[in-house]
Amino acid sequence: MISKTIEEALNKQVNREYYSAYLYLAMSAHFESVNLKGFSKWMRVQAREEQTHGDKFLEYLMARGGKVALLAIEAPKAKWASAGKVFEEVYAHEQKVTGMINALVDLAIKEKDHATFEMLQWFVKEQVEEESSASDILAQIMTVGDVPGHLFYLDHHLGKRE
Ligand SMILES: [Fe+2]
Ligand SMILES: [Fe+2]
Repeated sequence: MISKTIEEALNKQVNREYYSAYLYLAMSAHFESVNLKGFSKWMRVQAREEQTHGDKFLEYLMARGGKVALLAIEAPKAKWASAGKVFEEVYAHEQKVTGMINALVDLAIKEKDHATFEMLQWFVKEQVEEESSASDILAQIMTVGDVPGHLFYLDHHLGKRE
């Protein structure tokens, strides 16, 4: 069994992971609308990854006999000023998520919930990857120049993500 405190915290995290998926889908649609189809594809793959994060929390919650309480997913915004602005937001968002995962780890320790602590270690490592890929792409955009005309090579490269 799982404590009510952990149950509630994990239900919240399910919502945040699906919100991340929603945010990246909005970014994908935005990139499609400005004809950066590779960026759009990359974001769609990223959104799918966030869905699998939500699924992982959900499956864990159920495996521990916790009660699933799906919360409303907030609507993300739909427009960004440039590709650089999008990735600034991705980087900031992932840093925020890292903070949430760390807070969950702290809570698991406080509640002496070893299984939850162990499950969260996957997410601790995943967040290192997430922050690093966002900051790498942001740096690449800034190197070539944050204007559509300079982004075609990067667009082609990002479009290869499966
Ligand atoms: Fe995630
Ligand atoms: Fe993420």
